[in-house]
Amino acid sequence: MATARLRSIAEPAQSPCRRHVFVVCQGEQCLHRGADELLDDLERCRLRTEQDLRIGASDCLGHCELAPAVVEDGQVLGAVTAQRLRVELLRLGLR
Ligand code: FES
Repeated sequence: MATARLRSIAEPAQSPCRRHVFVVCQGEQCLHRGADELLDDLERCRLRTEQDLRIGASDCLGHCELAPAVVEDGQVLGAVTAQRLRVELLRLGLR
């Protein structure tokens, strides 16, 4: 059920400004491995960027073996570190 909801908010933007959607798991395993810091990093990025960056938090995404898990534009990323998140944001032109 959560997956269907994630897909609906991650659909491509209709405007020329590309929308990016990140959902950070806030389940126990992911929180234990720093997911709350990833959420803070994304929020700081959202405040700086002029692009359409949407951020959400989720209960367990069902990928605990990948903790901390983040969904980036509908794709699950696993073992996300602050450095990897920075690389992803750079790749998307969000930093
Ligand atoms: S706690 Fe994050 S995927 Fe399960």
